[in-house]
Amino acid sequence: MPSLAGPEAGVPAIDDPAFGEILQLLRERTGTDFAAYRLPTVARRTVNRMISVGAETYADYLQFLREREGEAARLLEHVTIKVSRFYRHAPTFDMLRREVLPELARQAEGRPLRVWSVGCGCGEEPYTLAMLFAEAGVSGTIEATDIDPAALQRAARGYYPDAALIELPKDLRERYVARSDGFYEVSPALREHVRFSRHDVLSSQPPPGSGEFDLVCFRNVLIYLGHEVQELALHSVQRAVRHEGYLCLGEAEWLPPAIARPLRPLAHETRIFRAE
Ligand SMILES: C[S@@+](CC[C@H](N)C(=O)[O-])C[C@H]1O[C@@H](n2cnc3c(N)ncnc32)[C@H](O)[C@@H]1O
Repeated sequence: MPSLAGPEAGVPAIDDPAFGEILQLLRERTGTDFAAYRLPTVARRTVNRMISVGAETYADYLQFLREREGEAARLLEHVTIKVSRFYRHAPTFDMLRREVLPELARQAEGRPLRVWSVGCGCGEEPYTLAMLFAEAGVSGTIEATDIDPAALQRAARGYYPDAALIELPKDLRERYVARSDGFYEVSPALREHVRFSRHDVLSSQPPPGSGEFDLVCFRNVLIYLGHEVQELALHSVQRAVRHEGYLCLGEAEWLPPAIARPLRPLAHETRIFRAE
């Protein structure tokens, strides 16, 4: 595939005009602007998709994308990375379970809590949060959003392979998931607390529902974005956290210095911040 060769061997080119046109078409058809993401990653994932449909150059694939109905949705599904697990990064969920949820329950005094899981993938994160709600004895709603409709459909079904549960503590596994046809199924009672909807965190659309959230989990999404839009996304997400609420990022992510609002980090090995 000579036209895909970038300056480093094995790295697909990102300056090929046909690649730019692929991104443009993807934006028109799905509303998502992948030009704002880390382009080498987007190019690598695009090339993977090209290989599976037998396209040898970006120009060939552009033609395929133009002609094949549903291909833009498939490319979006392919380009967005869904790696996730229940209770992903145990120190973070231990802290949410032992400190944050009980504290929010105290503050709420019986009021239902509101949580937003931004970039929820196939649902592992919001369902884990629903387990923690149940453990803390609080009621409430978890708004779970993503840009990929295919991921949201899988999330709403609530079936997972073994690998998705390797980090989930045994007590939670016993209480909230059941074996079904070789998969694990999330308990229907838990599913009632999670509402899935499509939302692009880079758009100017407000988050689902109205008002402010007690906890916002925005984990492992920023790492795929280009620097210019990382701050933009963080600014809009942190605005959704109420005073004395919490923001949780992925363990490899951090707040930019320019963030105006006081957000106090809790413990060093987690990325949980309290809005003051
Ligand atoms: C690696 S997964 C993270 C899943 C989960 N938050 C976790 O930490 O395990 C990243 C998710 O972000 C979603 N995503 C990417 N760009 C997005 C955007 N602009 N708006 C909303 N979700 C986005 C992807 O579709 C994917 O499901």
